Amino acid sequence: MSFRFPDTFLWGGATAANQIEGAHTTDGKGLSTSDVQPYGSFGELRSRQTGDFNIKDIAIDFYHRYPQDIQLFSELGFSCFRLSIAWSRIFPKGDELEPNELGLAYYDKIFDELEKHNITPVVTLSHYEMPLHLAEHYHGWTNRTLIGFFERYAKTVFERYGNRVKYWLTFNEVNVTLHESFTGAGIPRGSDQQTLYQGIHHQLVASAKAVKLCHEMLPEAKIGNMMLGAVQYALTSHPDDVFEAMQQNRDWLFFGDVQSRGYYPSYMTRKFKELGISLNITEQDKQDLKETIDFISFSYYMTGCVSVQKNTMSQEDDVAFKMGTNPYLESTGWGWQIDPKGLRIVCNLLYDRYQKPLFIVENGLGAVDKINENGQIEDDYRIQYMNDHLYQVGEALQDGVKILGYTCWGPIDLVSASTAQMSKRYGVIYVDRDDQGNGTLQRIKKKSFDWYKNVIASKGENLTPPADK
Ligand code: BG6
Repeated sequence: MSFRFPDTFLWGGATAANQIEGAHTTDGKGLSTSDVQPYGSFGELRSRQTGDFNIKDIAIDFYHRYPQDIQLFSELGFSCFRLSIAWSRIFPKGDELEPNELGLAYYDKIFDELEKHNITPVVTLSHYEMPLHLAEHYHGWTNRTLIGFFERYAKTVFERYGNRVKYWLTFNEVNVTLHESFTGAGIPRGSDQQTLYQGIHHQLVASAKAVKLCHEMLPEAKIGNMMLGAVQYALTSHPDDVFEAMQQNRDWLFFGDVQSRGYYPSYMTRKFKELGISLNITEQDKQDLKETIDFISFSYYMTGCVSVQKNTMSQEDDVAFKMGTNPYLESTGWGWQIDPKGLRIVCNLLYDRYQKPLFIVENGLGAVDKINENGQIEDDYRIQYMNDHLYQVGEALQDGVKILGYTCWGPIDLVSASTAQMSKRYGVIYVDRDDQGNGTLQRIKKKSFDWYKNVIASKGENLTPPADK
């Protein structure tokens, strides 16, 4: 079966400021939580004082090379590009009253360039970072005061860029705060569940307040949430396993439930009771949460299996988000289980649950690429991965799921969030830089570049059904 994706479907790629820009203190930028993580956002934290090498200090130097990179995106035929604004460029410490003009001016230039190429920006307000000062002095989202700081930041960027940005996302993979609390939320690692969920509550209120501001200030724009769509299957048909899978899926769907419905789901009442958690939710918070998102956005990389009968966890050390092993699936070199059909499942699950348009804002294969003797990168494995996943997006569209668009993760190689490696490459564009920071930063088109370009040009018509499905 072949399909033609709707003419309005947005095709593109997705990135995050801290993984591409570099220039970590340029033009008045303050340090962010990601700047103290030289060994990966989810790795060890290091003080900047020690002068450690941090690959993100330069990353892929998008800060200076953006015209060339956006030109390549344009060649690919992108109709949209997902990027994040570094909060610490706009408010270097996070608690200032006035923004940093040089930081604001930088993103003006990016949006000018995108406009020149007719590429619609999709902007994440906070992608796995916040000004370091807010983490160090306020303990991140555990502190209610941050809601006001975030509101000020959101208002500032809506005012400045509102006439050119029509798609906004609040917090990247907001559900990951549960597993890695420091990176995106500035919450000290190892915090107890009470502290963690109170911090998450503040973050959810801040998200709703940004949604409200967006609706008031930019009636033409759309604003969504962003979740890691990490579906768990039951390993067996034993009802206990099926129930366990449902519960584990609720761990992440909880975020979408609050952001989409505007109130806490009843299953959390029981969970909080069992965990001995008592949240401080004010009457004003309840009002604020009622401002709900316009669309659901999510990343999709893998699925997992759970069982209360058997231990499903693999022994892989490199898996950032522990997902139990599924005997029917293969894994990437980093132990992420490859499950194209799971993407169709997630699309249907989310659309059934929320009845709001979806936006697939991340999906891709992290792999080691080799340059051959002709200077080319023959990444057929990436083409296979993207074909199989996009084919399932086509199927989901046929299922009647409303999907606004698809942005592959890291259309250009970038620094990995979980491992801080350059060698875990996602791009259809290669960047000459290794894990130690050696390389010219030259950009080279991979074989997948032309392939993705053709998929976009043909609106998905040349996607092929997965061989053995
Ligand atoms: C998502 C994040 O979890 O996955 C990105 O939003 C991240 O920031 C991407 O880069 C891929 O993960 P990793 O760890 O391979 O970079």
